[in-house]
Amino acid sequence: MPQETLFQESARVSNRANPYPLYAELRRTPVSRESDGTYVVSTYREVSSLLYDPRISADPRNSADPPPMYKNPNAPPPEPSFIQLDEPRHEHMRRLTMKHFGPPRSPGRISGMAARIGQLVDKLLGAHQGRQEIDIVQDLSYPLPVMVICDLLGVPLEDEPRFRDWSDILTSGLDPDPSLQNDPAFLQRIFKASAEIRVYMAELLKAHRRTPNDSMLSAFVNDPEARAQVTDGEFMSIAILLLIAGHETTVNLISNGVLTLLRHPDLLARLRREPELVPAAIEEVLRYEPPVQFRNRTTLADVSVAGVTIPKGAEIILLIAAANRDPLRFPDADRFIPDRTDNQHLSFGSGVHYCFGAPLARVEAQIALREIIRRLDGPVLAVDPPPYRFNPALRGPSHLVVNFERLT
Ligand code: HEM
Repeated sequence: MPQETLFQESARVSNRANPYPLYAELRRTPVSRESDGTYVVSTYREVSSLLYDPRISADPRNSADPPPMYKNPNAPPPEPSFIQLDEPRHEHMRRLTMKHFGPPRSPGRISGMAARIGQLVDKLLGAHQGRQEIDIVQDLSYPLPVMVICDLLGVPLEDEPRFRDWSDILTSGLDPDPSLQNDPAFLQRIFKASAEIRVYMAELLKAHRRTPNDSMLSAFVNDPEARAQVTDGEFMSIAILLLIAGHETTVNLISNGVLTLLRHPDLLARLRREPELVPAAIEEVLRYEPPVQFRNRTTLADVSVAGVTIPKGAEIILLIAAANRDPLRFPDADRFIPDRTDNQHLSFGSGVHYCFGAPLARVEAQIALREIIRRLDGPVLAVDPPPYRFNPALRGPSHLVVNFERLT
């Protein structure tokens, strides 16, 4: 297959049980140009340096081919949330939001949630007592982050059936497949989901203004500093970002973690004996099977990378999942080593957009994995490889059925 179509090809494969051989081929050319003009960057040094580069924009308004929700001819484009803003506005909005959430590289307020997360895991697993089969995705790794983010933000859990579909449709907009991006039916679904979730969020934020509670959204929308500087459209976009990013990624981390461990029974046995290794093992899951496979950017100037000049205005894909397996950065990169040291993967991004929710995602995944390891006797995968979610950007199984002898 010609190098320049490799990424598009890999993105089109819905059942991506193993995209890593394709990524290895892509790394042979650190910066490659796809047939549609997009540049794909796949090596660690180059991806990490571009994540820090101020000449690289995260703002869709700088893109000649913005994400679908910005293409609606019949509605004004939504105001971007800060994941889609550049400096200085990005930093400003991020700070105003983070004030009510906790610092990104230390647990902060999130550490107070560990006990609550433990209770939720206990409740979710306890519901399967007496059975010998569980679908990890449906029964644990999807409901857990949904419950946690709803609790934290102050989004009613009973609204999940409504935002599940909107979230699913909106994240499918991250698919770079050009045939999908130009499909009118696909675009219509995105416009509709985007409009509906905004109406929903506008109502919810109004309710938090009328009757504040101790949730993060209440604190945020009633904060006088934020109210003076954030428009209603921006409040909505940020709340939607937190709701979607808060669960669509963590679900894959937990599922990918269980899948990886069940494929390595010796490591599973070791973690059972040495549960203190679980946090390091989660870091290795993040490196080895990243829930977010790539991020998009646009160049604001000509940028030279690995001997290639990417012209101003070009679309770039920063292929985090390929960078994380780069043998020039990680010795034995294709091997899962649960106590790997020097594991500075890019799975939470890097630079100014470094993941806001990383401490929360880590705590959730650590508790969920520790309890699965401790409480399931003799777990085995019912199907391997499992079916995958139809989303090349957010990669994880859609179902992960596990059989076991006993749930203690
Ligand atoms: C940013 C991954 C969980 C909220 C990011 C970025 C990545 C990422 C790669 C950088 C985006 C970029 O550079 O364009 C993940 C993964 C998670 C996770 C793998 C779980 C395993 C969460 C959670 C939240 C969250 C639980 C919770 C609220 C955010 C936000 C940003 C972000 C708000 C934007 C930060 C900014 O632009 O300054 N995440 N994330 N994420 N994440 Fe996460």
